[in-house]
Amino acid sequence: MGSHGIKDRVAIVGMGCTRFAEHWDRSIEDLIVDATTECFDSVPAIGRDAVDAYWLGTMTSGQSGLTLSRPMKIAYKPVTRVENFCATGSESFRNACYGVASGAYDCVMAVGVEKLKDSGISGLVVDRPEHDGTELDLSAPAMFSLLAPAYRERFGVSEDDLRAALTHIAWKNHRNGALNERAQFRKEVAREKIEAAALVAGELGLFDCSGVADGAAAAILVRAEDAHRYTDTPLYVKALAFAAGPGEGPLDPTYDYTTFREVVASAKDAYAQAGIEDPTAQISLAEVHDCFTPTELILMEDLGFSERGRAWRDVLDGAFDLDGRLPINPDGGLKSFGHPIGASGLRMLFECWQQFRGAAGERQLADPTLALTQNLGGPPGACVSFVSIVGNELG
Ligand code: COA
Repeated sequence: MGSHGIKDRVAIVGMGCTRFAEHWDRSIEDLIVDATTECFDSVPAIGRDAVDAYWLGTMTSGQSGLTLSRPMKIAYKPVTRVENFCATGSESFRNACYGVASGAYDCVMAVGVEKLKDSGISGLVVDRPEHDGTELDLSAPAMFSLLAPAYRERFGVSEDDLRAALTHIAWKNHRNGALNERAQFRKEVAREKIEAAALVAGELGLFDCSGVADGAAAAILVRAEDAHRYTDTPLYVKALAFAAGPGEGPLDPTYDYTTFREVVASAKDAYAQAGIEDPTAQISLAEVHDCFTPTELILMEDLGFSERGRAWRDVLDGAFDLDGRLPINPDGGLKSFGHPIGASGLRMLFECWQQFRGAAGERQLADPTLALTQNLGGPPGACVSFVSIVGNELG
């Protein structure tokens, strides 16, 4: 028994991603067609008939495989719809990878889509499943606002120091997003403006929150040994890890909101699969789930990029800036690129894809070798976490 992983058995050979934005003029179907068309165009040797099976990740924009088969005109192909909170796009990718690794299919496509902006209501609107009354019915900003005070208290960080670190994260991700033509928010934001913004929940201001957006992304996957038939620059899947927590946080008044145990568990599994012993030294870039600025701070510790209680200092030292020792969210992250839920996990991989192909423009990093994506679903205390590691060489 154990998590054996599928290291070097599957490769990404094509990708596409729409701009994440308020797409008033694009339907869910349009977004799917846009992302999948770009994906097919990126790998001309693979035509539509060559894709054997599809996975679609969407949380609220569809319920079945028909959401994909209809606009793509791929009638009678197997299409599986998956959902796992904000980690939905990563679930689409993970399950599609297993479709190839199992030997069931030669070539598959993972797609993620979400259209959130046409609700007519401010912020993120999602249907909550029925429950027994023990689950929290709070907005996402309210639930994630628990992190910063808990972190300050546990590690004895002053209000000013923690605020400065959170401001730096928002400033950095907006700065990275300003270099990205596909990002929702493409403007640098001054630290003073970030700190003066209206509060949304607890201490979280507007610029501590990720954007609500519409968008779609897609990837084509084949067996690793076939990858060079289709592209000179495949991306090999080194690790896929997933952890669903017990969801006990809301029931436990002593719950520790300075860590996501689900992230720690999924990172440990992913590092074991990929053979990573020193993540900071071995990983070239990471795309992580910065749904709110304190989330990115805590993820630095949960992923082993900072020592416990030290991430705020590392952030302020510029360790995770584009020119830092480990660039985090070079594409702008959820904060600036936007967060159309079903598409975000694949968007993270899209930035890795661009970075490894030397196509990241002004954000381009020198010679990346391994990249990590981390995608959280659900609130602190009751969440799921996905971690992937991809690289440009076998072995
Ligand atoms: N960051 C930066 N700027 C933002 C922003 C964000 N997250 N959200 C909106 N804006 C800007 C808009 O560009 C717009 O600017 P403009 O007036 O210069 O054009 C302005 O703020 C108002 O935009 P609007 O779309 O009306 O915002 P909103 O009030 O509907 O939403 C939040 C603001 C913070 C409530 C929303 O972004 C939010 O809920 N974010 C969190 C999403 C979330 O919970 N995701 C799940 C994570 S687990």
